[in-house]
This record gives sequence, C-alpha cells and structure tokens, in this order.
Amino acid sequence: MRTIIEPFKIKMVEQLRFTTPGERTRLLERAHYNPFLLHSDDVLIDLLTDSGTTAMSAKQWSALMDGDEAYAGSRSYYKFEDAVRDLTGFANIIPTHQGRAAEKILFTLLGAPGKVIPNNTHFDTTRANIEASGAEALDLPDPAGLHTETEAPFKGNMDLDALEAAIERIGAGNIPLVMLTLTNNSGGGQPASMENIRKTSEIAHRHGIPFFLDSCRFAENAMFIKMREPGYGSRTAKEIAQEMFSYADGCTMSAKKDGLVNTGGWLAMNDAELATRARNVLIVTEGFTTYCGLARRDLEAIARGLVEVLDESYLAYRLRSIEYLGDALMKNGVPILRPTGGHAVYLDARRFAPHLPLDNYPAQSIVCELYRHGGIRSVEVGSVMFGKYLPDGTQLHPRMQLVRLAIPRRVYTQSHIDYVAEAVSEVYANRESLPGLRITYEAPVLRHFTAHFEPVPAEAPLEALDLAALGLATFDVMSPREWAAH
Ligand SMILES: Cc1ncc(COP(=O)(O)O)c(C=O)c1O
Repeated sequence: MRTIIEPFKIKMVEQLRFTTPGERTRLLERAHYNPFLLHSDDVLIDLLTDSGTTAMSAKQWSALMDGDEAYAGSRSYYKFEDAVRDLTGFANIIPTHQGRAAEKILFTLLGAPGKVIPNNTHFDTTRANIEASGAEALDLPDPAGLHTETEAPFKGNMDLDALEAAIERIGAGNIPLVMLTLTNNSGGGQPASMENIRKTSEIAHRHGIPFFLDSCRFAENAMFIKMREPGYGSRTAKEIAQEMFSYADGCTMSAKKDGLVNTGGWLAMNDAELATRARNVLIVTEGFTTYCGLARRDLEAIARGLVEVLDESYLAYRLRSIEYLGDALMKNGVPILRPTGGHAVYLDARRFAPHLPLDNYPAQSIVCELYRHGGIRSVEVGSVMFGKYLPDGTQLHPRMQLVRLAIPRRVYTQSHIDYVAEAVSEVYANRESLPGLRITYEAPVLRHFTAHFEPVPAEAPLEALDLAALGLATFDVMSPREWAAH
C-alpha cells in the first residue's frame, strides 16, 4: 500500500477547546503578542514545540506503574541505563531532568572564558549554557543549510572546512569539545549524514578534541540516513543510530524529543574522570545519580520510549507526516524551508512577509496571526530567538527568519494537519496585512520565552554591516539593496 498511516490507534482522548478569532485577538493582546504567554487551554492546535509533548504509549504508561521509587539504586534506573548504553555504547550514563540540565553540567565543567565550542548550529539553550560559562558558542553550518530554498539531503551537516579553519585559528587547546546537533533544530530540523558525523569526529580527534552529539532527535536523523545516504538502505534505524553514536565521545540528550516521553534526558560519556565530576555536580543541582530530578518511573518510560522510537513504521510515518504538511503548504505557494525536516515545518518569514523589515520581527508577526486566525500556536526561530545587539545598540539578525510548526509525536491526526495547512495558507493569502512588532520588554538571555511586544507600523530597513569582518557570518541585516530585491 502506498498510503502511510498512523502506526497506532487511539485509546484515550483529550478534548480541544474552540475559541473565536475575536477572543483570540484579546488573548493575544493579554499575552503581549508572545504565544509562550498564552494559556494552553486557549490554543486549538499546539505546534509550539515537539519537546515533551509526546503521547506516550500504553506500554509506557504501564511501565510507569512498575517504577521503583527507591532514592538510590532504583531498578528503574538500571533499566534506563541498559537501554541508553545499548543505544549509545557510552560507558557513563548520567540521567538529567531534561536536555538543558545535561548542557548546564557539561559546560559548567568544560566551558570558561576564552574557550570556544563549535557546532553545526547550537540550539538556544545550548548557546545560553555555553555563554553562561563564559565560553563562545560558534555555529559552523554547511552553507547549504543557510538557504531555505536549496534542496539537499543533509542540510544539517557541519561545514568541515570551516571547522578545520576554526581549530587552526582558535587553537585546539581552547576548544574543549566539538558538538554536532542531530537533527539541526535551529537550521530547520535538517539531518547530518553519517559521512559528515564521521568526518567531524575524525577532525576533532585528529586535534585531540572530544566530540559530543546533541542527540535529541537521533532517531529521526538515523531514519533520514537510511532513506537518503547510499549504503544505509538495508541497515536498521537502530544500527544506524548506534553507528552515529560510535563516532562520539559523549552526548547530551533531551528525551522529551526522541525519548518519546514528557520529561527526562541524560548526559553520557566515555571519559570516567569527567563523568565523576559531572555526577558530583548532578548531586548538588539535580539529585542523586540514579534519579536526578526525575521520578524513577520516568526512567522506565524513557527505556521503553527508546525502543518504540526506533520502530521503522513509526519513523516512516513521522517523517512522512511532516512532509505531508510541507507539501500541502507548497501547493498553496506558502514559502517553507526545503526539504521538510524531521520534526517540524519551518515557514520562511523573509519570503512570507517581505514587506516587514527584520527589526519588526516578521516571523513573530506570522506566529501571532496564525494564532489569531486559526488558534494555532507556533514559535519564532529568527531574530527574537537569536538576535544579538552590538555595543551601539544595533541589532544583528540571523540570516534565517523562520516560523517553526513543530509537530508533537503521535498527537495530531491527518485532519488536524489539514486544518493547519488551510489556516496557514489563508494567513499567507492575507500576508500584506501582517503588522510589524516592537519589543517592549526582554530578558537578558533567552528573551523569546518571556518577551513582550506591541504592533507598530513598518520601519525603514537598516544599513548593511560587514558581518564577515565582525566574525558573524551567519548573521546579517538587510541592506537597502537586499530590501529592494525583495
Ligand atoms: C537541539 C536541542 N538541544 C537541546 C534542547 C534542550 O532540551 P530541553 O528542552 O529538554 O532542555 C532542545 C530543546 O528543544 C533542542 O531542540
């Protein structure tokens, strides 16, 4: 059969609450035009994130009942440890309550002023934890990954030449680890190829630098390799994932993604001495080494989730359901990042709302209108999330201005997705009426979570800066010439 169906049936349902556009206009104003500040009961289709929003299986729920809530040495911890070791092969498995807790521990130990940590693209929490340690987070995405319209199978790759050049320039002694984020969330959920993972590992190791994966979406990445990389078609997703981990010295993980659970994560590594130091930090900040900040039953659910996520009928459905939404949008001319990634469809805000200058946050404006028009919650992945200020107050804008429609795992049906495609297409048809936004409050780090906005008339575009000379090649502001070209 050609139709790929949801490889599950539904045993328990959760009622959705319908609101009117008029109500949502008021709710949006009350949330300061930041959908993070909405009450989830006021959201019809919640595509804010695929993180921790998974529907767990009957087997996971029954595993919860079997949780051993012992403070130390819990049976559930050992099940979890076996499952993670079987997948990753790492000697030391340290549970954490979510991905950023693993990042916090790792960079507390390895980050410091003067240190630089390269990655294909750091996710926002990874970048924030690195910067909090005083180190620099350096993005080295493959150039193809910076263009929303380029069709390429592995746009999440690391730029290997740029990595070599960065090590040469910075000095291996100042690079405590090289990372690779699989899939590249900030770059459109795009996968890295096995060849790129292996070569990144070789380069790091040749310079004596440890190599870590940010493995949140390892299973989706593995399935893309199976489908797209020559030589992997007959390997299982699990074998491919195991090979991916075999090139690394450790990983951070948010099990809220490909662990198929609502909370949890881990930090894993081969280096025993580093692991001992990490466990000592864990005890102070998270909890004892066999539970961290989790209920022990949560570790049971992760152990089971790691089996289910590598089921290829699940992965085929997962990747196809994202592509299905992308296809429906493209049919209506909506500009999206191509090809569709593993966990989300990303709208290209620069092409969607070219009348709005970047200082007026076009992607955030689209996010707000998707909620107002259709009750759909999405998230900005552009200037609000990654903008930077120069000392004179000029704001640098990342090249990619995206709206992420992240699809929770096993939650929405095909008709929900059809509704989303219809609503987004209608917003696109009326795109010229999208207002600009101005920030009225922002936190010093990770501002997108709590920022406040207000609508404004569009402002004039900014002058161009020589960003390559500033060492900020992945950022840009629109020059009047670029502006005219739009
Ligand atoms: C690539 C990536 N790394 C790290 C994290 C942080 O994980 P958590 O939200 O569990 O702290 C996320 C979360 O979305 C992510 O997508």
